[in-house]
Amino acid sequence: MRSYASFKGHPIHPALIPFPFAFLLGALLFDLLGLASDRRGLMLTGRHLSELGLLAGMVTAIPGVLDYLKTVPPASSGRARALRHGTANATALFLFAVGWLFRDATSPSALTIISELLGGAILVYGGWLGGTLVTRNLISVDHRYARAGKWQEVTLSGAAGASVVAARTEDLNEDQMKLLHIDGRRIVLARTKEGFAAFDDGCTHRGGSLAGGVCVGGVVQCLWHGSQFDTATGEVRCGPAKRNIHVYEVREQNGQVLVTLPRDG
Ligand code: FES
Repeated sequence: MRSYASFKGHPIHPALIPFPFAFLLGALLFDLLGLASDRRGLMLTGRHLSELGLLAGMVTAIPGVLDYLKTVPPASSGRARALRHGTANATALFLFAVGWLFRDATSPSALTIISELLGGAILVYGGWLGGTLVTRNLISVDHRYARAGKWQEVTLSGAAGASVVAARTEDLNEDQMKLLHIDGRRIVLARTKEGFAAFDDGCTHRGGSLAGGVCVGGVVQCLWHGSQFDTATGEVRCGPAKRNIHVYEVREQNGQVLVTLPRDG
């Protein structure tokens, strides 16, 4: 699904990742080369790369945290993976910071090298998890299918039992969806041949985003493992999901589409 922290549709976090990766692993490389050859210039480069890497890592973390909070589906296997990804990268940054703090005046100390070796290994692990978040969980992948239209997402609020104006009728064509954030709840509004439908944006298998899936002919498909649900009734049409998704009451009124929130909140 589309990244929250994006610029003109392009996700920012994946675009920044090469910088801390290159700088921090480069710091380790130059420190090792400098120690092996006893060349101060290489060790000084290692120090500067370490400083650049720490700065780049902190900047890169900002869109990453935003995507974690706003894009990755809550209560999903992707969320747990994203937490491990963030924790691993934060730990790697911490270790490189320790290595930088304990450098000698002109060369890296033994603690610096140990911290950088450990931090580098954890950084690679964090990067591997980040890659899985993109390739398997499709975080920041703005895929399109026939007639899908542009990605639509809006944040609204409404009390329990209230009807919330979710869209204008013309906002969606047939087989198009819109993701609604309503007071912490993620709801998908979809337009089908039979009219509008609204349902939870959480596949009951492992929590994949249905707004980030495919909606065709009154059926929405989760792209994580292929489960399909009826958009009108929420019934499972095809596994591996076994439980139906929750659907909401929807009605059109004066060119607006209203979604009614459940009374139990
Ligand atoms: S999360 Fe597995 S099919 Fe949706």
